[in-house]
Amino acid sequence: MLISKKNLINLRIRKICCIGAGYVGGPTMAVISDHCPHLKVTLVDKDKSKIDAWNSIDLSNLPIYEPGLREVIQRNRGKNLFFSINIKKAIEEADMIFISVNTPTKINGLGAGYASDLKWIESSARQVAQYSQGHTIVVEKSTVPVRTAELIQEILLNSENSTYKDKKTFSVISSPEFLAEGTAIKDLENPDRVLIGGTDQEAIDLLKDIYLRWISEDKILLTNLWSSELSKLIANAFLAQRVSSINSISALCEVTGADIHEVVKAIGSDQRIGSKFLSPSPGFGGSCFKKDILNLVYLCRFYNLEEAANYWEQVLFINDWQKERISSRIIEKFYGTVSNKNILILGFAFKSNTNDTRESPSIGISKDLLENGARLFINDPKVGKKQIEKELELKEGEINQISTGGWTYADDIYHFSKNIDAIIILTEWDFYKQLNWEKISLNMRKPSWIFDTRNIVSKIDISKFNINYWQVGTTN
Ligand code: NAD
Ligand code: UGA
Repeated sequence: MLISKKNLINLRIRKICCIGAGYVGGPTMAVISDHCPHLKVTLVDKDKSKIDAWNSIDLSNLPIYEPGLREVIQRNRGKNLFFSINIKKAIEEADMIFISVNTPTKINGLGAGYASDLKWIESSARQVAQYSQGHTIVVEKSTVPVRTAELIQEILLNSENSTYKDKKTFSVISSPEFLAEGTAIKDLENPDRVLIGGTDQEAIDLLKDIYLRWISEDKILLTNLWSSELSKLIANAFLAQRVSSINSISALCEVTGADIHEVVKAIGSDQRIGSKFLSPSPGFGGSCFKKDILNLVYLCRFYNLEEAANYWEQVLFINDWQKERISSRIIEKFYGTVSNKNILILGFAFKSNTNDTRESPSIGISKDLLENGARLFINDPKVGKKQIEKELELKEGEINQISTGGWTYADDIYHFSKNIDAIIILTEWDFYKQLNWEKISLNMRKPSWIFDTRNIVSKIDISKFNINYWQVGTTN
């Protein structure tokens, strides 16, 4: 979408800016700066504490944990990679601006509970309209509902509140991000594809030139704007659908004597199905799958495609059911009550290799157990006490008003396994695969249980010790 072509011919990109220094903006810009030493890359955010953390001298204090991220930051920060709260300056000097802000589900107003809240996209566009100078290419990096580029264009075109009265021009293109947390650097270094959508060929070529520094041309897919925006939502919907599909089958395996591992192997060996995204789990978490499917459901309903909306909504229904099913299974194994039971939770992040807890299945399952009066001891190698307090809406050591359940941060698994009645594995951290179960079993109060919702512990190994073992998707 080209608003006006003035000044674009022969435009060279020297300075880029990214609005939003979060899980996407941070790693993406770090990798771009690594491959493009000729570019000055500035990440800006309205959250000063986040920018301070990105600038922290001790790299263990970066705001997000991603394998390999520290090294990339160390190589480039202060050279051609900068983190700043001076949004005005970064926008003023940028030739290309990436919008990488959050697009969560709306909580109020029209479409609440389904539609994406675009207020941060809007405020970013207004900042660009106000401070940009000359010609600016605006790249939508956030995941957005189809036709959001139109909204951005309208704001850019109609801004009366410009700091500079000189004529300014814009091109809006879309380039959604497909990285997954925990493998962000690997995904950015070697993506399956880079998608660029738009009509302004010069703007597209300039963005493509950046990616061509390390990605081969055949992986760069060019589409129209709306296909690019929609493909991002659909990619997430398809991935989430696979997880819900296999989780629904895990329940069927548990009651029929089939084994989910064997079923996964049998179906995953069919090249048409493939083996990825078929691991049974306590349900998918993360900031995007749920909100992107809700948004897809909203879009379908908006266009009167009720059947399509209902189809995709089931993916979310199964995901909630899986989490509830696991909580119920644990309570059933204790003959209907976990009141005053000591339960060690292994893993609070929504998947391994990240410190992100957004929509983590551990939140709902922990809350269910707390409501049933359990005493929880929670461990995660990368999630701290404050984050858990925020997610559970309950301070460590405080008592849940209704049930008298409470929780304690368990930094040492062996120490906190003393007198524990059950251990629930909720995140598949490698560290948990190497635990000394013999030592743990001696500490636990009998009869003791391990509930393995990620299937990372060998049933055969555990059977050597005096512990009951339940895993998702097998008859227990
Ligand atoms: P995030 O919450 O980690 O980061 C967004 C940042 O934007 C926040 O730090 C916020 O303070 C900042 N921000 C919001 N409005 C601003 C403004 N007007 N000016 C300056 N800063 C502003 O979010 P995220 O996880 O990085 O996701 C960003 C987008 O990318 C979302 O649309 C998401 O759907 C999409 N996405 C996320 C992932 C992922 O793995 N997290 C992967 C692919 C795509
Ligand atoms: C997902 C997509 O994989 C990315 O391509 C996309 O860019 C991103 O969403 C986004 O738009 O935010 P992410 O949520 O970071 O990435 O992580 P995934 O690896 O996709 O895992 C999502 C959830 O599904 C996790 O809770 C994970 O444990 C669960 N999962 C995944 C399973 O339960 N089983 C599987 O087989 C795979």
